[in-house]
Amino acid sequence: MRGGADHDRERSQQALDLCARLLVDPGDGVVVENPGYRMAHNAFEACGAKLLCVDVDEHGLRTDRLDKLGPAQLAYVTPTHQFPLGSFLPIARRRALLAWAAERHAWIIEDDYDSEYRYSVRPEATLQSLDSRGCVIHVGTFSKTLSPQLRLGYMVLPLGLVDTFTAAKRVADRHAATGVQRALARLLEDGSYDRHVRRMRRLQQARQHALVDALMRHIGENVKVEGTASGLHLVAWFPGLPAKAEPALIQAARERGVRVYPLGPLFHPGARTRQPHRSAGLVMGYALLELAAIEEGVSRLAAAVSGLQQRTTLKLRDPFWS
Ligand SMILES: Cc1ncc(COP(=O)(O)O)c(C=O)c1O
Repeated sequence: MRGGADHDRERSQQALDLCARLLVDPGDGVVVENPGYRMAHNAFEACGAKLLCVDVDEHGLRTDRLDKLGPAQLAYVTPTHQFPLGSFLPIARRRALLAWAAERHAWIIEDDYDSEYRYSVRPEATLQSLDSRGCVIHVGTFSKTLSPQLRLGYMVLPLGLVDTFTAAKRVADRHAATGVQRALARLLEDGSYDRHVRRMRRLQQARQHALVDALMRHIGENVKVEGTASGLHLVAWFPGLPAKAEPALIQAARERGVRVYPLGPLFHPGARTRQPHRSAGLVMGYALLELAAIEEGVSRLAAAVSGLQQRTTLKLRDPFWS
């Protein structure tokens, strides 16, 4: 089932919203990654879900934590490129998640939002292809490969859910606009879409290399980069600055004309996490950046980072570490 083209909620966000409305009742437990994609979490919370936050590490969702959770109706995961940290869920954890869902009769939403941009990770079987029970809903989007302006996403549903979701989509917005979908179908059929994706992948990989290279040259050992195996963003950690310094870092960067995004808001506020002990982190998207802008932006960001670090090492009364 596809999202249409002329409605505010469409794109894969509409798929997530429909899943929340149709599969979650008030008070139901929904497993989410922490940190994670808050736009999805908001959709579940709007339907009264109780979020069961599970930490992620360098291999994605900590599936060893699932058994300790209370009852759950659904799990929402980004296994191909964990949002925001960028890890890839290995096959053993994929199987563990499916086994957990089978035991609880829970649904799994597999949000495959940017797997077209895979650089240094081998493709792995999707959760849906490993699922023998029909409990996985696979969600994808054309926002990253074509444009978010198209407002086009898709979901691949287990057969048993198709009629219910089709009816609910009809209630929400009756029809999807077909013009854009027909044009996209032509691109898919004649191979132009694949060629476009291959070209974009090379371009985005070059942008990512330029960003990582600039971070290393300008900030060096004061930055650690995570999540570069795929996608259109990476996470930059600043070991010399605590999480509390993120707002000041954003502000200092902004004063130098650089807009960057903090990691903090992607952690669930109520969850017990590594949050209080972690360093400051930024989510840095590079999809729309020209190479020259990357170089200039990172040199300005470096000045912001070093300014904040100096405040810390000067041992003046320091608002961050105290
Ligand atoms: C994890 C994740 N899922 C889904 C989406 C959005 O897709 P869409 O534009 O189709 O709503 C994004 C967009 O950034 C995302 O980061």
